[in-house]
Amino acid sequence: MTVSVDIDGGVAIVTIANPPVNAINRTVRERLLSLAQEFDGDPAIRTVVLTGVGALFVAGADIAEFDRPVEPPFLPDVIARIERAGKPWIAAIRGAALGGGLELALGCRLRVATGTARFALPEVNLGIIPGAGGTQRLPRAIGVAEAIRVVAENHTVDAAEAVRLGLVDALIEEPLLPGAIAFAREVLEKTLPPPSLDRPLSAPAQEVWTEAEKRIASRAKGASAPLQALEALKCGIEQGAKAGLARERSTFLSLRGSEEAAALRHLFFAERAALRPADIRGIAPRPVATASVVGGGTMGSGIAAALLNAGLSVVLVEQDAAGVSRARDTIAGLFEASRRRGHITGEELAERLGRLETSIGYDDMERCDLVIEAVFEDLAVKRAVFAALGRICRPDAILATNTSYIDPRLIAEGLPGPERFLGLHFFSPAQIMKLLEIVPTPETAPDVLATGFDLARRLGKIPVRAGICDGFIGNRILRRFRAEAEALIRGGVPIAAVDAAMRGFGFAMGPFEMQDMAGLDIAFLHREAARARGEPVPDLPGDLLVRAGRKGQKTGGGWYDYEPGDRRPQPSAEAERIIAPLIGPRKDMAGEAIVARLMAAMAQEGQAILEEGIAASAADIDLVEVHGYGFPRRRGGPMFQLGRADVNHA
Ligand code: CAA
Ligand code: NAI
Repeated sequence: MTVSVDIDGGVAIVTIANPPVNAINRTVRERLLSLAQEFDGDPAIRTVVLTGVGALFVAGADIAEFDRPVEPPFLPDVIARIERAGKPWIAAIRGAALGGGLELALGCRLRVATGTARFALPEVNLGIIPGAGGTQRLPRAIGVAEAIRVVAENHTVDAAEAVRLGLVDALIEEPLLPGAIAFAREVLEKTLPPPSLDRPLSAPAQEVWTEAEKRIASRAKGASAPLQALEALKCGIEQGAKAGLARERSTFLSLRGSEEAAALRHLFFAERAALRPADIRGIAPRPVATASVVGGGTMGSGIAAALLNAGLSVVLVEQDAAGVSRARDTIAGLFEASRRRGHITGEELAERLGRLETSIGYDDMERCDLVIEAVFEDLAVKRAVFAALGRICRPDAILATNTSYIDPRLIAEGLPGPERFLGLHFFSPAQIMKLLEIVPTPETAPDVLATGFDLARRLGKIPVRAGICDGFIGNRILRRFRAEAEALIRGGVPIAAVDAAMRGFGFAMGPFEMQDMAGLDIAFLHREAARARGEPVPDLPGDLLVRAGRKGQKTGGGWYDYEPGDRRPQPSAEAERIIAPLIGPRKDMAGEAIVARLMAAMAQEGQAILEEGIAASAADIDLVEVHGYGFPRRRGGPMFQLGRADVNHA
């Protein structure tokens, strides 16, 4: 039974029991509606306590239903019926009340909660707005300025704030139900407050709207839902709750069917599936309390910071005193930046640094449960590191490489206990980027693989398992993407047109701007090495630029020119002159056509990766692009785009 009922001396206790998150599906809606009708006709019932089973109240509407047409009874009608019930409904909340869950609670006449309660309307993350009265009842319950933050800016209200704002009428200690029932009996003796929707409301000053619009638009990154949520809220304040409800519902229904919402739902489910791949379900990870990072450069320092942020102890190994102090300074600088932005306190900063130990050589390895190697991208250097680790570490310690391109099997050759070895490929900056490619070798033990996934979860990262090939999933697609972008400019399409098209699609930067930022020299050296091995690598425009000393922003120019201290790219006549021998006659191409070419190239590479078994699913490829390469979230990823193109052309 998804909704159960118990009667306790005139109090009906309605429990939503739809694990794992008590999502509201059609059955729950039907049952709540019929119970509201039934209780009103039952003289033995005086009041109703509505709660959820387990650690949370209700996580919202069942998102899995959103790919189908809406089916009655509709949630707004169910909530309206509860709100107008003759027998007052009281929500008893433990844990999260999200989306439709909060809206349901707002439809109740009163709300009691435990200290674990938290309230949010995360619909905008799914490309929609609240669809069951949230934009109308919430401002009437807690005030307009606070409601704007919840409705359109993803703010979560905890139990203490909820009490302060009047969203919760009483805090109750566990066990919740007896307290809630006693509260329900008590309030029957008093005059009840009016339903949320009937509460008086004063319109805020015009600046409240203008400032909110500015704030929301600047953070929306092209997504439409946050501003539309604000508009629905505003409509209800300017034109009354009835008009507001109608506006909210029509916006909700039209966004629900949008491509943006479909993309965000796709990612919602993909992200959750990624944390629990079927083949390691039920396999216990090895305990990891202390980790070592070998190499404290760009990646090693970021990885160490990520581990420290997640509460682990870290031993960072460098080659010499200068390396150690550089790494320590970098990590301290990262934490200091977090403190300045208000993400951590001074005490937290000190505590995190207190868990960092640095070392020249491998003295402290005995206590490390996991070692992540992040030394130079050079097979001989990496092999020497693993030869030492193989001798020094405990036999059960997990050994991982952060290599970008080198075959992990070659790195692990000769390692005693190869079953404890795997690739853990972080992305730069490692303390921020969410993607972690997990690259097992054929010998990696299942519990070692499970530990990689568990580590990702602890670090707040999205793990994607990748098979072994040059570049794994992400860098392989990146190479193809860049090659296609270069093919476009060789065909005469202006550099700036390609970058502008990709920015228009939602990337923060176009492919050439990105190369200028990261430096053109690494890929150039890669190609030069291949040429030195006698491989037939043709000259590319990027090679001409590097040979002319234009390696990107760090040399004052690459594909573009840069003024000193200014990262804004300026079109470069010099760059054009240098690459001219490899560029065809100018060809203008519409932004959409440029995007389509680059998307098709990415998706084709993605298809090949799938067919070769390098990625387990198309959704995994999308996660790699979104969380590792800045692919716009609202576009769902290249494989999602391919699916949409197939649908549109069918
Ligand atoms: N609908 C359907 N399934 C949901 C769901 C929902 N609203 N919320 C979570 N789930 C599923 C997840 O997909 C996952 O399924 P699998 O076990 O099959 O992978 C399972 O529930 C557990 O979820 P998590 O792994 O995320 O568990 P968690 O404990 O880490 O987090 C949570 C729990 C905080 C509730 C988180 O799942 C969450 O944020 N859920 C989404 C909440 C949300 O966006 N609600 C708004 C929905 S839209 C709406 O309500 C519109 C409306 O107008 C009524
Ligand atoms: P880096 O050059 O910034 O840092 C390498 C560090 O390793 C240096 O500080 C060096 O002193 C240290 N080191 C070298 N040999 C060592 C040894 N034997 N013992 C201890 N320390 C040693 O390089 P970066 O960029 O951090 O890359 C490291 C690894 O991460 C490479 O394999 C690279 O391919 C990979 N990677 C790099 C990414 C990036 O964006 N830079 C992204 C993902 C992976």
